Order: sequence, then structure tokens, then C-alpha cells
Amino acid sequence: MKFGYFDDQKREYVITTPRTPYPWINYLGTQGFFSLISNTAGGYCFYKDARLRRITRYRYNNVPIDMGGRYFYINDNGTIWNPGWSPVKTELDGYECRHGMGYTIITGKKNGLKAEVTFFVPQDYNGEVQQVVLTNESNATKSFKLFSFVEWCLWDAQDDCTNFQRNFSTGRVEVKGSTIYHKTEYRDRRNHFAFYTVNDSIDGYDTDRDSFIGLYNGFHNPEAVINGKATNSFADGWSPIASHYKEITLAAGETKTLVFILGYVEMPQAEKFEADGKTINKVVANAMIEKYNTPEKVKQGMAELRAAWDKLLGVLNVTTPNDKVDRMVNIWNQYQCMVTFNLSRSASYFESGIGRGMGFRDSNQDILGFVHQVPDRARERIIDIASTQLKDGGCYHQYQPLTKKGNADIGGDFSDDPLWMILSVSAYIKETGDWSILNEMVPYDNDMSVAETMLKHLDVSFYHIVNNLGPHGLPLAMRADWNDCINLSCYSDTPGESFQTYTNPKFKNEGGYSKIAESVMVATLFTYTGPNYVAILKHLGKDDEAAKAQAEIDKMKENVMKYAFDGDWFLRAYDATGAKMGSKECEEGKIFIEPQGFAVMSEIGKAEGADIKTLNSIDKYLNTKFGLVLNNPCFTKYYIQYGEISTYPGGYKENAGIFTHNNAWIICAEAYAGRGDKAFEYYSKIAPAFTEETSDIHKTEPYVYGQMIGGKDAGSDIGQTGKNFGQGKNSWLTGTAAWNMVAISQYILGIAPDFDGLRVDPSIPAEWDGFKATRQFRGATYNITIKNPNHVNKGVISMIVDGKAVSGNIIPVLEAGSHDVVVTLG
Ligand code: GLC
Ligand code: GLC
Repeated sequence: MKFGYFDDQKREYVITTPRTPYPWINYLGTQGFFSLISNTAGGYCFYKDARLRRITRYRYNNVPIDMGGRYFYINDNGTIWNPGWSPVKTELDGYECRHGMGYTIITGKKNGLKAEVTFFVPQDYNGEVQQVVLTNESNATKSFKLFSFVEWCLWDAQDDCTNFQRNFSTGRVEVKGSTIYHKTEYRDRRNHFAFYTVNDSIDGYDTDRDSFIGLYNGFHNPEAVINGKATNSFADGWSPIASHYKEITLAAGETKTLVFILGYVEMPQAEKFEADGKTINKVVANAMIEKYNTPEKVKQGMAELRAAWDKLLGVLNVTTPNDKVDRMVNIWNQYQCMVTFNLSRSASYFESGIGRGMGFRDSNQDILGFVHQVPDRARERIIDIASTQLKDGGCYHQYQPLTKKGNADIGGDFSDDPLWMILSVSAYIKETGDWSILNEMVPYDNDMSVAETMLKHLDVSFYHIVNNLGPHGLPLAMRADWNDCINLSCYSDTPGESFQTYTNPKFKNEGGYSKIAESVMVATLFTYTGPNYVAILKHLGKDDEAAKAQAEIDKMKENVMKYAFDGDWFLRAYDATGAKMGSKECEEGKIFIEPQGFAVMSEIGKAEGADIKTLNSIDKYLNTKFGLVLNNPCFTKYYIQYGEISTYPGGYKENAGIFTHNNAWIICAEAYAGRGDKAFEYYSKIAPAFTEETSDIHKTEPYVYGQMIGGKDAGSDIGQTGKNFGQGKNSWLTGTAAWNMVAISQYILGIAPDFDGLRVDPSIPAEWDGFKATRQFRGATYNITIKNPNHVNKGVISMIVDGKAVSGNIIPVLEAGSHDVVVTLG
């Protein structure tokens, strides 16, 4: 069942009922000011850091769901409704929500009155603009009352929902004309405030929540709205809000447009106040208000936003025989990659914004998805991340976006982390040809006095793996590898211990983790990423170092084949007792997904057919109708030696859930091995546009990836096997976005930046006649036509660039301008 449809022309998903199976959200903002907005206008805003600078309040895990947002209430002679249906939930005569690129338009109709609200954050602007267009579609004059509403958060979102003994006494506001200012702590230690304004006179306001809503009422029945009049309340502690009240009369057919702005302002310390030393100096706020206070200015702001997205999405554009592929590649997957760039894993409807900082591995992988869109910002990001690396090649697992410092309470020793940086730096160079990043002086642990070149950072990353091998010559597993929930040194039997960072006394003397437990996944990730490092060294003429690194890769491959090939697939790990994990010999968890794709793409044991055997085993044991499960059979009891993984019931998350992030690695591997049909089958099981038809099962947004889809075993431990099979969770902020962008664009469609040019090597469904793509690359535009006359999956037999045959399949770097490329498969 669907709850809307794609409008590809406008690059929008149009939701046609407010009762979606879960709130379906969008993100506004790309620089400093960010908003989350659901299809019923729920959500919140923050500036840069969702924890430390939360502007409006939101209640996670509330009953009913999705409470708190920017709400407009209309009281039309006793009929009270919201354009977005919630929170009053009066049945509407018409409802539509259009989530677009950085904006959302929600339209509601009731009793002949139409309210269309456009929400967006303009470019280079610290505020959310809300344009409300009210149209009387009836034949008679209409008089009604409009109330706006936002609830302020007292800045630190964590403190805001825990420290009530203080917070109930600190809330402060100011009202001037039609603008309500939130200035809690501005008098003393803060240099920032927020405001909510409307570009028209008002007939009243409220700034105190209990006066507006009523202590025993809810968002769905605020007293002031029911009474049809604001109370002009002035908050003094408790919970400050901002609500404008306006009486409106519209003749039949008449339209009235109001522009509301929710803004955030920082002031230099010396200029915080007016001469009286306590009134907010509003110079900056007024200039901000001035910028968007008319419909014409709003129109201009929307046009600029559209132009910005045209540019971001203009780098890669494809026309394939499948419109779902086109809408993923051209619009939604790229859009989601930008959102992960901006938000990392911090704030979504599943991530509360007060938990994690930026992940070392997460952010490096995210780069792969958006480096073509914003190469300069990717460069900056890479250097920020690399600055939290340690001199021995290890790294902080997370860092805080405001301070950019490594997060000491989480620490390091996640075995995969350094490798992702080799991948992100290579992706950056392949995209841009900017080798100078390697000469950049980058600190360790943010200490500039011990800075070394980026190239040296890659070196210590590579050798951090080589220098930390276990008994089989495979990388030590440490606290966790990519799979946060395989914690082979934890052995936790006490509630509340962190599986990732708890150091079991058993391993205290060994530095916190077992020197026996080894990760096959890190081994194959090493053999997959390592060749990039070798290629970089060769390019720089460092042949000896290249040969030395290559020898390590070769040795690793040998060790994997010797100690970690289980006959039909690769093992997952050796645990701290030296026992195999992910083997036929295991009772449960016999096969895991993570090491396999990288092994295939590193051609480990290819001569012996290990690649095809492995891919066939994945098909046989992990493939389901909704995607590939992470492991099989699922764990049905707690394996203390494995850590967090078996604490999840089977079918969820890392215990045999469909973890879409690593499905991409298999899609890449199938494409790499030339099995384009299989690659496409797996892709189409998880790509959101393809799950749209089953939105009732899938639940989360059909336009973006989620981290996880319930696996075939979901519910098996409670006698309800398959109950939540196919159900998505944790949408938006996931490495799946980047990896599936790589899988579809670089492996299936096969257009992949390489060090010396643009490689074209599609691995597509045989039934396709071909496809077209436009790719901007290092200053030139390539119009690429792929022909597949013999209906093969893979294999370039000819390439013609600007009318001339070129051997091989790498388009050389050409001068600026447009170039025609025709590639024939056969
Ligand atoms: C989450 C984490 C990511 C981890 C994955 C698997 O997506 O953000 O870092 O690799 O889970 O555990
Ligand atoms: C990742 C995993 C999650 C785990 C968490 C711990 O997000 O997906 O299952 O609980 O890491 O940090």
C-alpha cells in the first residue's frame, strides 16, 4: 500500500494522508540552522549541534507519537483544525504534504478554507521561514482566528529534559510588536537568542505555555485556541513558548499571505543589549527579519534554494530503463547523502540529537556518497576527522562537531576505523585530482605540534592494521569492527555496561582487548582498501613503499585463504578463545555478511572459485524477499563471548536484521563479479523507491534508506515468526545512503572516478538495452551513452570519446566543456 507518490519533475514526495505508518520527515537547512519536519509539521530546530543548541522543544517516544512542532491552529467559528492535521486531528477536507529538496509544503483544507504552509531554511540564513497562504475557497465571507505556536527549548536539549529544578525558574522572553524573543540565560552566560515573528500586526500573543495550552490540556486542545483569544501571557520561568494570534476576514475567493520567521541570532558580547543594559539589541534580528518579510522575498529565497539543489544534483544524472533507479540516483539518494553529511548520526526521529557526535568510521564512509557534490567541504571534513587520529594510527571513535575534539569517554580501539580514512581520502583524490591534500599538515589528537602530512596519516592507518595482528596473522578485533555489536573482549554480565567500551578485567593487562580475537571483516576490508594506498604511493613515485605495502596485502590475502575460508564462504572472526565465529561448525550464526563482499572484490581465492562460492552461499543462506540478513541462523540465546550482537532478538539490528548498509557491499561484489542481474535484484529489494508499494509493511519513508529492515526471523522467539519482517527502522542517518550511492552509480551503472580518469564499467541487468548518464568530472561534462546490444551483464568492448576510439574503459581527463562518450558492452 502507498501513502503518496513521487513527483519527479518537482523532486518531491507527495504524501496524501497524514496517517502515514510512521511520521515521514524531511530536513531543512544545509549550513548552520537545521530543522526536522514531519508530514504533520512535527519536529524541531537547532543550530549546528542538536544537543547543545536546541532551539525548539521536542518529545521523543511520546504518546501519541510526534508531539511538538511548529503548529498553526485555525479556529473557524468553533471548528478547530491544523493545516497539517496534527495535533488537533480534526478530519480535513483536503490534505497534502510535499517534501522537497530542503523544503516542505503542507496544505490543509476545511470548510472552504485552504491553508498552504511552505517551510524552508534559506541559503546562508539562520532561520526557518514559514509562509502561510490562506484562501477562502467558499462563496461567502469567512472570519476566523489564526494562532501560531512553537515551544522553546532551553538550549541544551539534555539539560532541558532532565534539570527541571533549575529550568522551571529560568525561562525568559521579550515581546516587541509582532516579534517574540526567547532569551533564557541571555542576561548572563549566553550570547544568543531566538525569535519568532510574523510580517503583520497581531491581535495578541502568548509566551507562557500553561496560559496558552492549559495545565491539564494538550497540544490537541489548547485553551486559548478553544476560547478564541490569546491571553497575552508573559513567561516567567516554567515553559516559554511563542504564539501569535490574529483575527482574519477573507471575502469569497480572497487570499491572505503571512510570513513567519523562526530565527537564531548570536551577538558579540559588547553589543548584546540596548543602552538600558537589559533589552535585547535587535539590530541583527531586524536585519534577518527584513530579509524574508514579504512573499516576493520568500519567492526569491525559494528560487535560490532550488538553484542550489540544481547545482548539487547536477553533477550526476542518469536515464535508465527503470524510473525508480533514476529517481534514486538523480534525486533521493543524493539528497540523503547530503543529509548524512550535515547531520552524521546526530538527529533524526530515531537519533535523539543528544547521543552521539560524529563517528570516525561513519563520517569517512559518508564522504563516499557526497564527495562529488561538495568536494571542498569533503576535503575540510576529511581533515577534521584525520585531526582526531592518534600517532600510532589508532583514532578516537567519535568527535564533537562544535569542538572538533576526539571524544575521550568513548576512546578508540575500534579495529576498522583507520581503514575508512584510506577510502575517503582516495575517493576525494579520485573525484578531484587534488593530490595536494596529501601534503596537508594534519595534527594527531588535535595537537598541531605533532602534525604530519596527510600521506603520513594514511601510512599510520595502513600500518595500524599490519601492526596489530593476531595468531593467524589476521587483524585483531579489538572493541568492535564495523559491526559495533561484535565485541569479542567484553564478556559482559552486568546491566548497563557499554559493550563497546567496557574493559573486562580478563583483558585489562592486555590493554583492554583480547590479543587472540581476530576480525576477518577487517582483514578483507584491508585487502579491499589497501590497493588504494599502494596506488597513491606509486603515483608519488614511492615504489619501494608501494611494494612493501603490496606485500602486506598479499600476505593478508594468503592468511585469509589459509585460515578464514570455511569452504563456501569466509569466517566472520576468531573469538577470544580462538574459536571460529561464522563457520559451518557453529551452532548459530554460521554465516555473516560483512567479510564476504570485500573478499570477493579483493579476489581472495578467486583462482579456486572462492568468489562465486561465496556469492552463491549468500544467496542461499542470507537472501530474503526484503533483502539480505546480516547473519544466519540468527542467535537465539546470549553468547557472552560475542558481546552485544546476541542481545538483540533474532531478526533485529545486528542479529540477523537486514542491515541495508552491508547489503550494498554484496551488491558491489555481485556487480564486480559480473553478475549484474543479481546485483540489481539485491538493489531493488532495499532501494526505497522500490519499497514504496509496500509502505504499509515497510513503515518508514519510501524516499530514503533506513539503517535496518526487520529480518525473516523477527518475532521468532515469541512464536510470531516474520511478524515484523520487512519493517524499516532508523531511517535517514545511515551509512547505507553513501554505500548504496556507490553501489548503484559506481558498481551497477559503473561510472566510477578513478585516479587517472573516469572509469566506465557497468554491470547491469542483461535485459537493459543500455542507459544514458551525464557526469561532471574535474571541470568537464561527459555525456555518456551505454549500449547493450547483446544483452550482457558486463564487459566493455568499445569506447568512443568525442568520435575517437579509446582503448580500455577509462575516460581520460579532458578539457572543460562537454564530451560525448559512447560505450558498447558485449
Ligand atoms: C550503526 C553505526 C555504525 C556501525 C553500524 C553497525 O549504523 O552508526 O558505525 O558500523 O551501526 O554496527
Ligand atoms: C550501532 C548499532 C547498535 C548499537 C550501537 C552501540 O549504532 O547499530 O545496534 O547498539 O551501535 O553503539
